[in-house]
Amino acid sequence: MQSILLVGAGKMGGAMLRGWLSTLDQSTRFVVLDPHEPPGLSEFGGAPDSRVAYVQDSLTLPRDFTPDVIVLATKPQLVEDVVKTLQGHIGPETMLISVAAGVHCATLKAAAPLGTSVVRVMPNIGALVGHCVSAAYPCADTSEPQKAQVSQLFEAIGRLTWFDNEDDLHLATAISGSGPAYYFAFCEAMISAAQDSGLPPEVARVLAIGTVTAAGQLLAQDPDPTKLRDMVTSPNGTTAAGLTALTADGTLSQIARTTLDAAAKRSRELG
Ligand SMILES: NC(=O)c1ccc[n+]([C@@H]2O[C@H](COP(=O)([O-])OP(=O)(O)OC[C@H]3O[C@@H](n4cnc5c(N)ncnc54)[C@H](OP(=O)(O)O)[C@@H]3O)[C@@H](O)[C@H]2O)c1
Repeated sequence: MQSILLVGAGKMGGAMLRGWLSTLDQSTRFVVLDPHEPPGLSEFGGAPDSRVAYVQDSLTLPRDFTPDVIVLATKPQLVEDVVKTLQGHIGPETMLISVAAGVHCATLKAAAPLGTSVVRVMPNIGALVGHCVSAAYPCADTSEPQKAQVSQLFEAIGRLTWFDNEDDLHLATAISGSGPAYYFAFCEAMISAAQDSGLPPEVARVLAIGTVTAAGQLLAQDPDPTKLRDMVTSPNGTTAAGLTALTADGTLSQIARTTLDAAAKRSRELG
């Protein structure tokens, strides 16, 4: 039996919880701490789920409650104060997992009791569909069994890669943490361009969304975007013409570069 205190059940915390409820067995119990109970939180598959308890305030937690894992999923600006508030519930065996962008190991460890194991994970919203992409960094004092526990949790809802360098988490935040929004934005731009060119809105949506969904599935089967791009690009054909416009003068590479730089810079500012 493992007990997990999830602090913050918003977009990311809620997505991870639903993923864990659908993949982990009855031996994992969750206490969810959030000022507002998200609708349907304690239910899974339409029925109340006895694995989940909800508390509105840390003062409501039983005094002797020391979970095995505390997952910190509030906004980054709140995480340090939240850890300080929960000090009485962090036992010698409790591991903290922070999914907050930019909040450093040093900040988290300084707020927790001395010697507490802390792991930083940068997940993404793919958790909602069992395809969470996560990067993790073990702060000092994290044992191999605890790393294995983190792997087990995040591989249950997708894929996890361990990093050797904490600073690289800023890049993971920029690429995969924030990444889904870039692909959504590109899809929006394609829909908008198709409409401007005269297609009815619904048709534009079906074509653009169907295409990005299929492209994602093809990449999942064969993770080589260059090969796949070559496969669908005939010399001097329509795709080649579109790609030439898309990549002219390195525009696309430059957009990717400035996008990642801006998101990583913001992640550094949050630290
Ligand atoms: N969203 C993503 O795609 C994503 C991806 C990777 C990492 N993250 C990280 O995940 C964290 C949460 O992001 P989010 O997008 O899920 O934000 P969010 O939707 O605002 O969720 C945060 C939740 O924390 C609750 N909360 C506020 N104060 C609290 C407290 N003192 N104790 C417990 N819960 C509290 C909020 O409740 P109220 O709304 O009532 O204030 C809200 O339900 C951030 O640190 C972010 O960097 C997010």
